[in-house]
Amino acid sequence: MKFHIHTYGCQMNVRDSEAVEAMLISAGHKKALGEADADLVIVNSCTVRQKAENKAIGKTGYLCSTGKKVGLIGCVVSRLGEDEVKRLLPKLDFCVRPGHLKEIPYVSPDADPLSSHFHEFLPIRRFENYSSFVTVMTGCDNCCSYCIVPKTRGHEYSRPMEDIVTEVQCLAFCGIKEVTLLGQSVLRYKDFPGLLRKINAIDGIERIRFTSAHPKGCTDELLAAYRDCKKVCRHLHLPVQSGSDRILKEMGRRYTREEYLAAVRKLREFDPEFSITTDVIVGYPGETEEDFELTRSLMNEAGFDNAFVFKYSPRPGTRSAALPDDVTTEEKERRDQVLLADQEERGLKRNLALVGTIREVLVEGPSKRNPAGFSGRDSGNRIVVWDVNKEQGAGSGEEGVRSKEQVGSMVQVKILEAHPQILIGEII
Ligand code: 5AD
Ligand code: SF4
Repeated sequence: MKFHIHTYGCQMNVRDSEAVEAMLISAGHKKALGEADADLVIVNSCTVRQKAENKAIGKTGYLCSTGKKVGLIGCVVSRLGEDEVKRLLPKLDFCVRPGHLKEIPYVSPDADPLSSHFHEFLPIRRFENYSSFVTVMTGCDNCCSYCIVPKTRGHEYSRPMEDIVTEVQCLAFCGIKEVTLLGQSVLRYKDFPGLLRKINAIDGIERIRFTSAHPKGCTDELLAAYRDCKKVCRHLHLPVQSGSDRILKEMGRRYTREEYLAAVRKLREFDPEFSITTDVIVGYPGETEEDFELTRSLMNEAGFDNAFVFKYSPRPGTRSAALPDDVTTEEKERRDQVLLADQEERGLKRNLALVGTIREVLVEGPSKRNPAGFSGRDSGNRIVVWDVNKEQGAGSGEEGVRSKEQVGSMVQVKILEAHPQILIGEII
């Protein structure tokens, strides 16, 4: 069969889709050019907010009407359960939870005879040939009141360090330059700084990223690993969720505003250019104007380089779902817009300070926003774009934009211009 996979949600889902692709290919199936060309379409779903779930179910429902074979995998299946999914989508061919992906019909029967932790034994096949996700932990044992993930991805499990190191060595051998270590709360890995040191010593790997982090994990040992390991990128995605101690407590986040800000200061003292990004939820049950203003001021104090703002969405089965969702949709929208506007201004200010600096950039490909541009990322995960028309021997033709710089190579870019979420420069 020719198959196509649609992936919604986070990096864990992307990594799962890679695994499914690898299993289907080893069973003799072929990747379709796209959805239209496929006999089998698989939707890998996310249920972090109701809107995400609706999108995946809507897409799957539509696909079921096309006469193709259709499968639903991912977090929606865990949340609803197989029976409910089949009731909602009677024409669906199969549905499988994350962590059970080897149960997908049509995969190779010997995909994983050894372990329920399928990631460990899968063939290495990745979507990109210069950058890869590497699973360090699966599941989550935190109990943030609003979050469905412990329900959809089960208990926390840490892979043995030797397995992770071996996997990264194999990736380096295949030409991968950048790895992103994945876990819902990756700093809970036992001796995470030690893992960073081991990976830092692998030849061929040039950049190490990891996500997601918790301020409690910003220990002196982690800072020491940053100091000693030049390959570890100077960027941390550190979700804060709220700036109000009262709300943080209700959310079960296990840190105060001050503890969070202390972690930020520590990182910025180590390196003033250190890039810190975050997630924020607006309109959590009982969030007052005062709570919201505390989130606003925390974001200012932290000086985030980028921020993702989410409107609270109650998830059945979580602790906070029992509380009244009492902030109106209009008010959530307003708070969202206020924080986004603040972040635009703050992002621009942070980026303007980098004009004139030289950034080391891993080349990714044609820019999505600038038709004459090629783009990549610096160590801080900032998007850096350069105009190929200014490069000798490159340019844009009918077949699209070409840079003389190869995808996956490192280049030096001098920053000439700053925007809230993008830096523009020239290759030097
Ligand atoms: N409603 C809104 N946002 C949520 N997130 C997680 N659960 C919810 C929810 N119920 C956000 C958090 C998290 C990000 C991945 O999604 O900010 O960090
Ligand atoms: Fe990822 Fe959470 Fe969405 Fe699952 S529900 S795909 S873990 S973001």
